[in-house]
Amino acid sequence: MYIKEVYLKNFRNYKEQIINLNENANVFYGNNAQGKTNILEALYFAALGRSFRTYKESELINFNNEYSNILITYVKDNKENKIEISLNKKNSKIIKVNGIKINKNSELVGNINLVIFSPDDITILKQGPQQRRKFLDVLISQLKPKYMFELTEYNKILESRNASLKNRSIETLDIWNEQLASKMEIIHKYRKEYIDKIQEKLKVIHPGLTNNKEEITIIYKTNFKDKESFLELLKKNEQNDLFKGFTTEGAHREDFEILINNKSLNLYGSQGQHRTAILSLKIAELKIIKEEIEENPVLLLDDVTSELDEQRVLSIFDVVKDYQILITCTDLAQILKYDCLTKNIKLFNINSGNILE
Ligand SMILES: Nc1ncnc2c1ncn2[C@@H]1O[C@H](COP(=O)(O)OP(=O)(O)O)[C@@H](O)[C@H]1O
Ligand SMILES: [Mg+2]
Repeated sequence: MYIKEVYLKNFRNYKEQIINLNENANVFYGNNAQGKTNILEALYFAALGRSFRTYKESELINFNNEYSNILITYVKDNKENKIEISLNKKNSKIIKVNGIKINKNSELVGNINLVIFSPDDITILKQGPQQRRKFLDVLISQLKPKYMFELTEYNKILESRNASLKNRSIETLDIWNEQLASKMEIIHKYRKEYIDKIQEKLKVIHPGLTNNKEEITIIYKTNFKDKESFLELLKKNEQNDLFKGFTTEGAHREDFEILINNKSLNLYGSQGQHRTAILSLKIAELKIIKEEIEENPVLLLDDVTSELDEQRVLSIFDVVKDYQILITCTDLAQILKYDCLTKNIKLFNINSGNILE
C-alpha cells in the first residue's frame, strides 16, 4: 500500500499544506524544529488514532487556531481510500473512513498499515516495559483491530477494579476479577501468538545482521497460564492490591525480554547489540505485517541516520526495496549517498511549516 496525498490544515506548525507523495522514497529534509516529524505524526495519527508523541490531542492543533484537519488519501488493494480527521480544541474528534464516521479507534486501525522507526525506539529494550508493550500492542492492533477493542475493554475494567481498590469497595472485587480474567485470557492468546511470530522472523533476520554471530530469543514475560489460575492469582493478590491501591498483575504489567546467545540483552548487551536487536525487531514487524495484509506497509524513518550507522541503515533499505518510505533528516547528503534509494526519490525541503518539493 502507499500514501498518495496528505492534506494538513492547522496541524502543528502547518497552516494549510498538500503533500503529494511518491510511491517509493520520500525525503523530508531541513533544520531542526521545522516540521519534519510533524508530517510523520499526522500519518501515524491517521493510522492509529493517536500520536506517538503526545496523549493531548489539543497539542496537535496549531497554536493560533481552534481546530485542525488531516486528510489522507491512500491506495490499498489497488483502491483509493480516504481518512479524514477533524480535531477541535474543545476535545472533540471526528474520524471518517471513506466518508463514513467511525466511533471507535478499533474501527480506524488496520486501514493504513505502517511501521515507524525513530531514535526513541533505540532505547525500548533498555527502558521500562511500557514501550515494549506499546510495540507489541501497536503491531497486533494494526493486524487485529479486535485486539485493540479488547485491550480498551480490559483497561476500562482495570480502571474500575483500581477504583474499587482505592475506595475499598471489597464487595465489588469479585465481579472485576472475573471480568478482568476473561479479557486477560483473550489478550494473552493474541500476545502469545504474535510473540511466537516475532520469534520465527527474528530467527532468520538476526543472524543475517550479525554475520551469524548472534542468536536471538524473545521471551514473553507473563504470569498468565489459564483463566482459572489467573483468577486465583487476582484473589491471592487482593490484600496486596488493596494496600497498594492498584492491580499488580495483568496485561498492563506484562513484558518481553530479548536474549542474545542466551544472555539477557538488557543486562549484558552493548550499545551496538541493542541497536541491532531493535533493528531486527522492526524488520520482523515489517515482515509480519506484509505477510498478513499481503501488501507492503508504509515505512516511516524519523531521523534514523543520526542513530544508525551505514550498514544498519542499508539492512533496512534492503528489506523495503519496493515499499513506500518517508524519511526525515537534517543532512540530505546522509540519505543521497544510498544508491538504492536515488532511483525513485522525491525530495521535500521543510522550512518553518512550509514545504518546497
Ligand atoms: N501545536 C503547534 N502549533 C504550532 N507549532 C507547533 C505546534 N506543535 C509543535 N509546533 C512546532 O513544530 C516544530 C517542531 O516540529 P517537528 O516536526 O518536531 O520538527 P523537526 O523538523 O525537527 O522534526 C517546532 O517549531 C514547534 O514549535
Ligand atoms: Mg524531528
